[in-house]
Amino acid sequence: EGYITLDPGYKNTGATTSAITFLDGEKGILRYRGYPIEQLAEQSNFIEVSYLLIYGSLPTAQELNDFSERISRHTLVNEDMRKILDGFPATAHPMGILSALVSSLTAFYPESLKSNQSQDEMDLSVIRLMAKMPTIAAWSYKNSIGHPVIYPKNKLDYASNFLNMMFSYPTEDYEVDPVVVDALNKLLILHADHEQNCSTSTVRLVGSAHASLYSSVSAGISALWGPLHGGANQAVIEMLEAIKADGGDSKKFIEKAKDKNDPFRLMGFGHRVYKNFDPRAKIIKKSADDVLAALGVKDPILDIAKELEEAALNDSYFVERKLYPNVDFYSGIIYRAIGIPTNMFTVMFALGRLPGWIAQWKEMRENKEPIGRPRQIYVGETERDYVAVEKR
Ligand code: CMC
Repeated sequence: EGYITLDPGYKNTGATTSAITFLDGEKGILRYRGYPIEQLAEQSNFIEVSYLLIYGSLPTAQELNDFSERISRHTLVNEDMRKILDGFPATAHPMGILSALVSSLTAFYPESLKSNQSQDEMDLSVIRLMAKMPTIAAWSYKNSIGHPVIYPKNKLDYASNFLNMMFSYPTEDYEVDPVVVDALNKLLILHADHEQNCSTSTVRLVGSAHASLYSSVSAGISALWGPLHGGANQAVIEMLEAIKADGGDSKKFIEKAKDKNDPFRLMGFGHRVYKNFDPRAKIIKKSADDVLAALGVKDPILDIAKELEEAALNDSYFVERKLYPNVDFYSGIIYRAIGIPTNMFTVMFALGRLPGWIAQWKEMRENKEPIGRPRQIYVGETERDYVAVEKR
């Protein structure tokens, strides 16, 4: 039996071997299947990166075409899903709806519950999930504004199709802008995988019990929702808005974040693994400038964000603790510029992270990993005798 080592938050414990994503937090390096994130963000698109993560190599032109076409054919969701959607109040957070509807896919595709799926069956589950997530995500938004849902249009590419379902009305078509499509592809690529983060570890842990891909990813969505994880992108914008409303003094908020008696943290700052610049944040910061310029958007919040970053990077508290802006610090500013409402930011993160979750779930199953079952060190009462209620 031997010792049980205690490592709360798994700060130094590896749970698996993995061949998907390489991350060096000291040097600020991130690679998917060996390819640097900078090259993928600049030169690839989200569907190609999804293929790379899920199947391990860049697709040939034919493979890419087949993958995209198969995804396009499966974008419709079962009409009965709309009844589930209708049951949610308009106030429901879209992340809750996303997690519930992804979980309910098991009901529509019960074959996904088989623990010994063939490669073809597993592939079909993968394609269905990639195809239906954007539809479900856009519908969760339409529900929140009380508008009728827009059906997928399969002649559009993945990103354009999502934007169309978000922003078209039965009465008016949305003009898909190539600047917006490029920005969205870049954001999705930057979020596509990040090795054993909280939501991905959740997907692997749930999947290790041989739960279906849909249930496992639904659990991952719930984990991602938390403000210390994917929920941070929404929290960043809310924080920047609060700074603006308070008169725009970023130094005051820096002091607040340093005060140990105040629970406030600088959202979008710090990372468990990056103790140097988050390479994704570098790309996103530049992209925020480019996208806002291309769209002719002037957002005062971008200036506040830059001031805040500058002030934090020159403050010994943040320097000593190696706290740098993370991927979420600037992503919300781009989402806002392309018209995505704040309560959808974390859903955008989920859409981006999906191929990573799928790749990690598939790797875990194909490697026949054992069920995940952490141990503990018991610190409760020693043995004691039961006392009848009238004697307590
Ligand atoms: N503002 C102020 N202080 C901070 C912050 C922050 N954002 N982040 C960490 N610290 C301090 C923390 O108080 C601690 O100080 P001390 O040593 O004096 O007690 C020290 O830095 C180390 O922090 P930690 O909480 O032990 O580090 P962690 O690895 O457990 O937490 C984190 C990592 C990302 C949860 C944390 O930095 C944080 O809460 N950041 C804000 C939320 C955020 O932006 N999350 C998005 C993460 S990136 C997207 C994703 O992949 O999820």
